[in-house]
Amino acid sequence: MSQASAEDRELRIAIDGPAGAGKSTLARELARELGYIYVDTGAMYRAVAYKALQAGLDVQEEADRKRIAEIAAQMEFQFEWQDDQFRLLVDGEDVTEAVRSPEVERLSSPVSAIPEVRQELVAAQKALAQVEGVVMEGRDIGTVVMPDADLKIFLVASPEERARRRWRQQRERGISRPYEAVLAETIERDRRDSTRAINPLKPAEDAVLLDDTHLSRREMLARALELVEEVRRKRGR
Ligand code: DC
Repeated sequence: MSQASAEDRELRIAIDGPAGAGKSTLARELARELGYIYVDTGAMYRAVAYKALQAGLDVQEEADRKRIAEIAAQMEFQFEWQDDQFRLLVDGEDVTEAVRSPEVERLSSPVSAIPEVRQELVAAQKALAQVEGVVMEGRDIGTVVMPDADLKIFLVASPEERARRRWRQQRERGISRPYEAVLAETIERDRRDSTRAINPLKPAEDAVLLDDTHLSRREMLARALELVEEVRRKRGR
């Protein structure tokens, strides 16, 4: 590849981190700013949980877990921008709002720990990651899905700050719950996501760690764009 085309090539960007660290906001804004494709892998796990709920399956039951993995294998995911809004379509159905319900949220963590579900979704994500010009967010993007990403960002924020954001988001959606309950859930989800046997949440060795506890959305985006520029500059050398 000539140097000019290497410089011109669009980037593949991985954004990982725990729930509520601001990954979605940053990933979406970065994709919009750069004109890239945006892939929210957490929404894919949530969509599997949504389908499992619809089918009345119980994640505690061995036979039902097998069935959930079979459903995951057959799902078709489509990411689209509509009127400047990001939407997720599964088998043609718009599930963007449905996958945000507290029931789906609760089930998405145990569903994401089923090895066969991960295998199916990682394969689908690797296929989506083939394009240049993509921002993909999740937990294992820099380590497993796109180990060769051009830029890997690992976002962190304190559990208290993340719980506060989640509590506020839920309240905006009309769900009123005690902050302490949301904090306890956040800590429990972190524990489960980072101690599960396969693809646990951890930063890739070559990831850039960003702590957004005290940064505004604008500051985070500016910092990420600086990192993008750095990668491009290094390419140009
Ligand atoms: O980011 P989120 O809250 O939408 O993710 C939903 C669940 O899916 C969460 O429990 C973590 C899990 N997940 C995962 O295991 N791997 C990913 N790449 C993305 C999400």
